[in-house]
Amino acid sequence: MDHHYQNKLLRRAWVEVNLDAVAYNVMEIKRHLSGVKMLAVVKANGYGLGAIPTAQTIVKHGADYLGVVMLDEAFELRQAGVSAPILNTGAVYSDQVDYVLDLNLEQMVFQFNVAEALAKAAEKMNKIAKIHFKIDTGMSRFGVHFSKAVEEIERFKRLSHLKIVGAFTHFPMSDAVDKSFALLQIERMKTIKRELAERGIYIPLWHMANSGATLDLPASHMDMVRVGLMNYGYWPSFDVRRPFELRPAMSVKADIVAIREIHRGDTVGYGRKFMAEKDERIAVLPIGYADGYNRKLSKIGQVLCRGRRLPIIGGLCMDAAFVKITDEPQIQIGDTVTLMGSDGAEEISPHDIAQLIGSVSYEVISGFGRRLPRVYMKDQRIDYIHNELTR
Ligand SMILES: Cc1ncc(COP(=O)(O)O)c(C=O)c1O
Repeated sequence: MDHHYQNKLLRRAWVEVNLDAVAYNVMEIKRHLSGVKMLAVVKANGYGLGAIPTAQTIVKHGADYLGVVMLDEAFELRQAGVSAPILNTGAVYSDQVDYVLDLNLEQMVFQFNVAEALAKAAEKMNKIAKIHFKIDTGMSRFGVHFSKAVEEIERFKRLSHLKIVGAFTHFPMSDAVDKSFALLQIERMKTIKRELAERGIYIPLWHMANSGATLDLPASHMDMVRVGLMNYGYWPSFDVRRPFELRPAMSVKADIVAIREIHRGDTVGYGRKFMAEKDERIAVLPIGYADGYNRKLSKIGQVLCRGRRLPIIGGLCMDAAFVKITDEPQIQIGDTVTLMGSDGAEEISPHDIAQLIGSVSYEVISGFGRRLPRVYMKDQRIDYIHNELTR
C-alpha cells in the first residue's frame, strides 16, 4: 500500500478532543481540593476521548493516580509508557494475579482467595502486592459488606507479601439532591476507619468520592477523590454545585457527504420514517448508530451547522444520518456539522443527547466508537489524529 494512512481523516466523521480543556479541568478540580490526592478515572478509553492522550495530559497536570477497570486498560497505558500509579478498580480472578504484578498495578480486592493468590505470586516474584480493599457500603457491586469489613481487613492483614495501601467504597447516588444515603455511606466508612484505628490498623489511603461527591460532599474526600466525568468537562448531574468552570473537551462532527433534493411523497431512510409533504433538501452525514450516535435520535436528534440548529429526520442508519436543510440554501456538501459540541452560540451537550434518549451523559460520551478517528486539538490547532483502523 503506497499511501500514508495515519494522521488523515479518510471518513469525514470524527471525535474532536480538546486536550487543553482536559488540562484546564484537571487543574480546576485540583485547585478545588484541599490537599487530598486525586485519582483520575480513564477507563472506557478515557470515557471515549482516548485513554492514552487523556491519561498523559491528566498526569502532566497534577493527577496522582489513574483509575482503570480491567487489566487490558492498564496494559494499554503501560505499553504507551504511562508510569503513574494505576489502580485497577475492576475485579480480577485469582489466576490473573501475575498480570497485576507484571503491570505494576494497585489492585482492588475483596475476595480472600484473590488476595491469597496475589500474595503467593508476589512472594514468588519477590515483590509486595499493593491492594485497595473494597468495602460495600451500599452499591452491591464489589466489596466486602461494611458490617464485615473490619474482621476481613484483619484477615487480609495477616498475608505476607501483600500490603493494604488503600480502602475504598463507591457512591451510587452522590450527585442527586437527596444526599441522605451518601451521608450514611460516609458514616459507615468513617466507623470502619475508627474501629480499625482502635485495633491499631492504619491504611494510608481512604477514598470514596466520585465527581458528584467531590463537588457536594467534602466530608467524603478523605485522602483521595476519584474523578472521572469532570476531567472531560461535564458535570455529573444538573443537581450538583458548580463551584468552578469546566470546559467540555469532546465534540462529535461530520462533514456533509451528499445533499438530496426530494419531492412530495419521497421517503427517507430505513423504515421510510420520513415522508416529504413538499420539496425538501436533505443532507447526508457519514455517521450512524454503529458509531455511538444512538438510533433513538432518529426524528428527535438535532445537529448544528453554520451556527444553525437543524433536525435529524428519518431512521438513522448504521453509518449514515439525515438532516433537513430545506431552509438553509447556504449549506453545501463538505460543510462541517456538529452532532455534539458547540457551533457559534449554539451548543448540544452530552446531557442534551442523554435526555433525548433516556440515558446519561456517561453513556453518550463513552459510546462513541472506534471507527470515529480522534482528532486531538491543542492551542486551537490539530495536534494529531488517531485513527484506530489505520494505525
Ligand atoms: C469505582 C469508581 N470510582 C470513580 C468513578 C468516577 O465517577 P465519575 O465519573 O462520576 O467521577 C467511577 C466511575 O464510574 C468508578 O467506577
